[in-house]
Amino acid sequence: MAINSKKLIKGIYYPPGDKSISHRSLILTGQAVGRSEISNLLEGEDVMNTLLVMRDLGAQITKKNGKYIIFGLPPGALFQPKKQLDFGNSGTGIRLLAGLISSNNIKATLKGDKSLSKRPMKRVTDHLKRIGASIELNKDSFPPIKIKGVGDAIPLSYDIKIPSAQIKSAIMLSALNTNGIVKIKEFKSTRDHTENMLKAMGYNIKVKENSKYRFIEMKNDKDLKPIKLNIPGDPSSAAFFITAACLKPGSKLIVKNMLFNKTRIGFLKTLKKMGGDIQITNQRRVNNEFLADLKINQKKHLKSTIIKSEEVPTQVDEIPILSIAASYARGVSIFKGLEELTVKESNRLLLIHQNLKAMGVKSEIIDFDLHIHGDTNLKKGGASIIHHHDHRIVMSFYIANLICEKPNKIKDKSSIKTSYPSFFKHINKHIY
Ligand code: S3P
Repeated sequence: MAINSKKLIKGIYYPPGDKSISHRSLILTGQAVGRSEISNLLEGEDVMNTLLVMRDLGAQITKKNGKYIIFGLPPGALFQPKKQLDFGNSGTGIRLLAGLISSNNIKATLKGDKSLSKRPMKRVTDHLKRIGASIELNKDSFPPIKIKGVGDAIPLSYDIKIPSAQIKSAIMLSALNTNGIVKIKEFKSTRDHTENMLKAMGYNIKVKENSKYRFIEMKNDKDLKPIKLNIPGDPSSAAFFITAACLKPGSKLIVKNMLFNKTRIGFLKTLKKMGGDIQITNQRRVNNEFLADLKINQKKHLKSTIIKSEEVPTQVDEIPILSIAASYARGVSIFKGLEELTVKESNRLLLIHQNLKAMGVKSEIIDFDLHIHGDTNLKKGGASIIHHHDHRIVMSFYIANLICEKPNKIKDKSSIKTSYPSFFKHINKHIY
């Protein structure tokens, strides 16, 4: 369906399974001896690549009646892969698996597509080398990552200086086959699904937080127990529909079964501050993760807001769609400290700025801060969107058609398959 400025968002919406939890569910059940069962796994390309890699490393994974059944190997028992491990577009897949492999006595080459081959890996591999693994990177920075892992990894303490769940999780996965106590200090704003799932699987892990940092202690003296998981709906995918509903007065959307983890829902706080009419209902906790349903009943236009740099990690993947909200909100919005956006699937900071400009919205980048001059007039649109095959840029600027006089032109939208294969099906269902 073509979407345009006359359309609204309606209906009862079920977001697809959470991408971060889907990756972790395959990796961690792949390290648990016995039968695990996963339902509502996100069948996006990123997660499917992790599944294939876990199979190459020895986990038995099959699909039966829509559910995935996994029989894992104990930590340290990964098979020597027979071929190079291909992660496609997925930074989460390659970084987390680099961690897992580094403490196994195997050799592996981890590679990805054109976009992944330009993303920084040293932020992960510098930590992993310290346990004794030999690791080589292309141009000392990028994939392919060549790893010769160690079976007797050294237990260490880590102080992570970049707020990144991928760096933390890579270290945590290397700790699964490390004898002794592994300690990690990191920013508490990063997503904590690896911690939550390890706890749900009976692992020996302690987590403490103060106002800024999280402190994790892991000891591999208890086995990972197999588990039955129902993956909650992905807030990062739901954000496209939730933001669209808040953007367009007259929209009414009910969101069911969405992950409601505080490290993931910064965007809800931002939208509420902008005047988004979002009610949270039916909060519950399953397998150490919070879930909720939402009710959006938007009557008024949004107003501008400021996102502080320390608030970015809890909405890092939602900045592109929030930039569309800001462009249709009264006043100047400032999203501060977006440096990490420059090393995502594309340089998202630059692409947001360029595409907003092309569709008729004034924005500036000042020292990694994005200033967006919004108002509630329709934008001229008709822009040829530059997306470099970045799924979240494609989906954000597709949603932007709701506030444009002329539709934007987006050539090749196939990258949405990495995180949200049912995006257009959901557009057809919820945009009237
Ligand atoms: C993810 C962590 C985030 C996020 C990515 C998924 C994860 O990256 O942008 O889409 O599942 O751990 P960083 O941790 O590198 O910020």
